[in-house]
Amino acid sequence: MMAPWLLPYLALLRLGTTRPLVQGHGFRAPAVAWPSSFGLNSPLEVQETIQIPNNGSAALLVDVQVFVTNVFNVDILRYTVSSMLLLRLSWLDTRLAWNASVHPRRVLTLPWDSLWTPGLTIQEALWVDWQNPSPQAQVDQDGHVELYLALTTETNCDFELLHFPRDQSNCTLSFYALSNTATELEFQAHVVNRIVSVKREYVVRDLQTQVPPQQLVPCFQVTLLLQNTALKTIIALLVPGEALLLADLCGGLLPLQATERTAYKVTLLLGYLVFHSSLVQALPSSSSCNPLLIYYFTILLLLLFVSTMETVLLAGLLARDHLRAERSPSPARGGQQHDPDNGGPNPEEATRATGTWRSWAEAADHAFFLLYVAGVVCSQFIFIGLWMWATCKSDPAPGKAAPHGGQPRL
Ligand SMILES: *[C@@H]1O[C@H](CO)[C@@H](O)[C@H](O)[C@H]1NC(C)=O
Ligand SMILES: *[C@@H]1O[C@H](CO)[C@@H](O)[C@H](O)[C@H]1NC(C)=O
Ligand SMILES: *[C@@H]1O[C@H](CO)[C@@H](O)[C@H](O)[C@H]1NC(C)=O
Repeated sequence: MMAPWLLPYLALLRLGTTRPLVQGHGFRAPAVAWPSSFGLNSPLEVQETIQIPNNGSAALLVDVQVFVTNVFNVDILRYTVSSMLLLRLSWLDTRLAWNASVHPRRVLTLPWDSLWTPGLTIQEALWVDWQNPSPQAQVDQDGHVELYLALTTETNCDFELLHFPRDQSNCTLSFYALSNTATELEFQAHVVNRIVSVKREYVVRDLQTQVPPQQLVPCFQVTLLLQNTALKTIIALLVPGEALLLADLCGGLLPLQATERTAYKVTLLLGYLVFHSSLVQALPSSSSCNPLLIYYFTILLLLLFVSTMETVLLAGLLARDHLRAERSPSPARGGQQHDPDNGGPNPEEATRATGTWRSWAEAADHAFFLLYVAGVVCSQFIFIGLWMWATCKSDPAPGKAAPHGGQPRL
């Protein structure tokens, strides 16, 4: 037995000509009417072949093999990932089988719109580029259909960036066959890693497929486990930050009187501010689970700020006192004077008072330096602890959070 509509194909094969294909971008074009010269006068016969094959009371089983050929352009600022996939769909359509002893040809190539094919939509996609707008299906004499679809797509992915730049995220692509119901059609999905390029910041560590249960519309999902391997970020972010902090600590060893110390610390703070603003631009923001690095670098900024302020304040007070000591004939020496019984202008006493004040400032500076070192060391340890043990679970998507309401369940 053979579907009568296949006859024109077999006739064409003998004639060696091809029927012009109907170009289209979607995967569900309106049924094409057959040219009457092919001997099919009833369009219903054509219509029948583009209906989904019937599998009795069970659903038609469509086997999907997903070959992931490339994952490029992982954009954490826009929360998107671009990937190239090759889908191999195969199913059994016994209406297409033919009698091999009458027509000895083993495999036929048919345009996709002349037979039933599942129409696929990717839920997370911003855009999908089906590389061949009119793919061809292969049919063998038993009615096994095989269809290859190559696509490039950019999809949305909620990266978990808490541990950036050593972050890992699961990115899911959900394929829905919106023109069929789950009772008619069922997917059976496998995924194969065919990625050849390894020179990437984000590498694919694992690939999984699943068929979500209890869907109204047939669906399968491909999950990419993406891992950030960017050593560059560590070198470009952590090393300068630590170096600046260390340089600032060393600046505390300069004597308080040296005017270079203030200049040194202010320069460091300025340099750090430039670094900080470029860092903040390079990291994405999110409603939950922001990268720990942002907090870390903000605390670093505060530490540098406090240390610079301390230097400026103490140096400023010392300089004022020094000026007063030089103008010692003036009787008023303000609240800093330690000897209230100062009867008259006495250069020796003024020098002594300045000396006391200076030693007090130096003691304060020393105490601050010790405190500062302790603070820096503590902050580093607290940060390492947070890095190792902190976990963060992003808020569920609004459509998933509300059990009754929210998005309609597909
Ligand atoms: C195929 O065709 C041959 C020759 O016409 C016939 O004998 C045979 O029964 C056919 N087989 C089927 C499955 O129809
Ligand atoms: C029909 O359904 C059965 C049971 O689910 C399945 O084993 C079989 O492969 C299906 N046949 C086709 C052509 O999909
Ligand atoms: C990704 O998914 C796998 C399997 O569901 C799970 O074991 C893993 O913890 C997930 N990874 C992340 C980073 O969410």
